[in-house]
Amino acid sequence: MSYKPNTDRYEEMKYRYAGASGLKLPELSLGLWHNFGTVADHGVATDILCSAFDHGITHFDLANNYGPEPGSAETRFGQILKKQFSSHRDELIISSKAGYLMWSGPYGDFGSRKYLLASCDQSLKRMGLEYVDIFYHHRPDPNTPLEETMGALATLVAQGKALYVGISNYHAKEALQAKALLDSMGCPCILNQVRYSILDRWTEEDNLLDAMDGKVGMICFSPLAQGLLTSRYLDGRVPSGSRASENVFLKAKSITPEVVEKLNKLDQIAKRRNQSLSEMAISWLLKDERVTSVLIGASSVAQLDENLKALKGDTGFSKEDLKAIDELTT
Ligand SMILES: NC(=O)c1ccc[n+]([C@@H]2O[C@H](COP(=O)([O-])OP(=O)(O)OC[C@H]3O[C@@H](n4cnc5c(N)ncnc54)[C@H](OP(=O)(O)O)[C@@H]3O)[C@@H](O)[C@H]2O)c1
Repeated sequence: MSYKPNTDRYEEMKYRYAGASGLKLPELSLGLWHNFGTVADHGVATDILCSAFDHGITHFDLANNYGPEPGSAETRFGQILKKQFSSHRDELIISSKAGYLMWSGPYGDFGSRKYLLASCDQSLKRMGLEYVDIFYHHRPDPNTPLEETMGALATLVAQGKALYVGISNYHAKEALQAKALLDSMGCPCILNQVRYSILDRWTEEDNLLDAMDGKVGMICFSPLAQGLLTSRYLDGRVPSGSRASENVFLKAKSITPEVVEKLNKLDQIAKRRNQSLSEMAISWLLKDERVTSVLIGASSVAQLDENLKALKGDTGFSKEDLKAIDELTT
């Protein structure tokens, strides 16, 4: 049976502008780094995407290397897109990236014009798309002139293969340089996609939001610290099927008694606020209006539903709550 999206899908979601651009993103976006690759359950992956869209999540974030196998998340997403969302393409913001190792040899990694242009073509083919809405340079490349990398992004826009471009994992200094270069090419940088959560504050130390001055939006990835800022590990165990049980990107050994104690203290603050830990972690990021979107991952519809609750009700923070969170985490 073909999917019929919820007709009220735009009622509960709020949208924020990406920097100085005219593009709005949902406060909550969905990333396909995990749970969409070769080994993923196709039915669950479909349900997660449809459920997200039913709640006004219009933005799906991918990259060339998401899998495993690298590329397989884009392939699966393309299949689901074709079957379920073909008449809704104009309601979706689909992003991809290049910057990490994708193919062997000297041209499948980092930031050369050769790599970026070829990789975008490959991503479009895998997803069955004519264009992506946002194409990012995935990480800074110390060995390629920034002019070349930013020039490749501008070319993608000129070719109609990307509508907007962004950068990812750029610190303030290099982000400002990238922005200036793209501005000079008439191709604004609309987003910097960076890791930011209650447990990971490097962007604050870097003064990234102040430096961007609202011109380049911030979209925060791993807002739940890959699952740490949820109820998943509060009892100190590593459940089978969890990301920590895979022991690749989130290591089981990182669930130490000290970490578990800290998470439980954060959970107590969340409970006082009538939120779950994941809801509080998302609300905490959205309290700053300069954050464009919080980019979560989910391995089930139930997780997505819980995380969406962060957008409901009074999500403001008292000074006492903020202080208590900071005391535990900075
Ligand atoms: N630009 C970059 O360099 C970069 C890097 C990393 C990620 N990203 C983007 O950011 C997206 C999100 O990253 P992320 O997956 O690390 O984000 P995250 O939201 O911090 O972690 C998501 C994981 O946490 C667990 N989880 C989520 N909600 C839960 C809940 N309510 N209860 C219990 N567990 C829950 C799930 O893991 P399990 O169920 O498997 O345990 C889920 O897959 C990626 O998909 C990607 O699009 C970008």
